[in-house]
Amino acid sequence: MDDRIASTLAYHARTKHQLDRYAAGPGSLDWEAQPDPFRHWRGTQVTPLPREILATDILWPLLDQPRPAQAFTPACLGSLLRLCAGLTAWKQYGGSRWSLRAHPSSGNLHPTETWLIASGVPGLEDGLFHYQARDHSLERRAWGDATAPGVWFGYSSIPWREAWKYGERAFRYCQLDMGHVLAALAYAAALHGWQARLLALDPEETAARLGTDRDADFNGVEAEEAEVIVTLQADAGAPPTWNHWAGQPSLLDVKPMYEWPVIEEVAAATRGPLPPAPPAPAHAAKPVATTSTLPATQVILQRRSAQAFDGKSLMPHAVFRSLLAALLPGGSPVWRLWPRAPRVHPILLVHRVEGLKPGLYALPRSETALAGLKQAMPQMFAWTPADPELPLLQLLAAKTERTARTLSCHQDIASHSAVTFAFIAEFAAPIADNPAAWRHLHWEAGMLGHCLTLEAEAAGWRGTGIGCFFDDAVHEVLGLGDTKYQVVYHFAVGIPVDDARLTTLPAYE
Ligand SMILES: Cc1cc2nc3c(=O)[nH]c(=O)nc-3n(C[C@H](O)[C@H](O)[C@H](O)COP(=O)(O)O)c2cc1C
Repeated sequence: MDDRIASTLAYHARTKHQLDRYAAGPGSLDWEAQPDPFRHWRGTQVTPLPREILATDILWPLLDQPRPAQAFTPACLGSLLRLCAGLTAWKQYGGSRWSLRAHPSSGNLHPTETWLIASGVPGLEDGLFHYQARDHSLERRAWGDATAPGVWFGYSSIPWREAWKYGERAFRYCQLDMGHVLAALAYAAALHGWQARLLALDPEETAARLGTDRDADFNGVEAEEAEVIVTLQADAGAPPTWNHWAGQPSLLDVKPMYEWPVIEEVAAATRGPLPPAPPAPAHAAKPVATTSTLPATQVILQRRSAQAFDGKSLMPHAVFRSLLAALLPGGSPVWRLWPRAPRVHPILLVHRVEGLKPGLYALPRSETALAGLKQAMPQMFAWTPADPELPLLQLLAAKTERTARTLSCHQDIASHSAVTFAFIAEFAAPIADNPAAWRHLHWEAGMLGHCLTLEAEAAGWRGTGIGCFFDDAVHEVLGLGDTKYQVVYHFAVGIPVDDARLTTLPAYE
């Protein structure tokens, strides 16, 4: 077996949480010593971005309708960046203060760095800019010779931010977060009349465009792992190359206590091109109507993860169906950013949904997935159609709360929700074909989570990503005996119970 495939599979296997043993991580944590969630590029020219949010008049159900693209201006880019990567609030409790962003992040550690590449935007010099979420500004990192006008977004991960807390499993969380971030961009771009598309560059090209391969610049500070570059124009090619660089990245953790070398190994093993994608589909009618009447920008800015659910609210059937519809091709702008054949499929542990028997359900996101899952999962499941329009099938009628809680590292959010999802990825075959698929499967799962988080918020419900689950225990419940399919993410939706002790402060004064 190719070394890269073997390393990827070995990493996945050794970072499973088992019922009797968690994946290797730090023995203890000093929260005061958390790596800085904001990297600053010293010695760069800083440009504050306009803070006004545009497109505030678009209601959530209309978010994905075609609309004229807004011209690339600092005002428009400022609005877009706030909606996909900006701060949405500061929280305070006692002497602690922390910020939240437009997308959720495992442990609120925010490993993803956002880069803007701009060429020919009036009022903005050309170049590569680091987006500084703390004060909503741009730090100009590089520039080059004049090129065709365009706007691109680039992403890199700083694995140490996650590894500080989660040890070896951290690289999974970086990739799940990446999926949430890409989905957040797809929604924000759609609101401004643009469509976000991933560029299939070689990993070396992506790293060179984002400067993450400039090892000397990162000497003594935490490395960044280039992930992907996204274009907002249908006809754009690769972004420009640079011949002038500026700035030094700040150190995020002055005293790292552990080392997890396997993260560098899996990062190297999973560097690879995106699989070819068919042309992005045109706007498709959403399979099921959304009932929300909130402005889309409000949904995005007020989005939060529930820290606890009430354990009793019954989810209306219409809300449940709008959640599922968002996960299917055509159900969200995210699936035009990721137009590839679906490879990650939700299994649902339904606790409290109006008109639906509690139990285990499957939502295969394609016809071929249904056949594959049916073959892989044991005969005892019924596979009874459970919706006239959506590909929802009932596997088993049963009380699922205890199982969901146990499988999700004994977290109450998985049982006090109305429904908890386990995202099952087609695993061994795509990775054998291209080990980079390991990242992409986690992105796809993160994107599914993001669709749920926003759709739930729009309907007055709330979601929470669950990165902590007992992998093989999930496989056992589903009868999955090999690595053809693997669970990659859990997600719960319910009615939140807010913590009244926390004070909320505005994102930007
Ligand atoms: C990939 C991922 C995994 C997560 N795992 C858990 C989890 O296991 N348990 C939990 O309570 N919250 C989990 N969360 C939620 C985060 O704690 C939450 O997003 C973060 O604290 C920021 O809060 P916010 O989403 O309200 O902005 C996860 C979020 C993501 C994106």
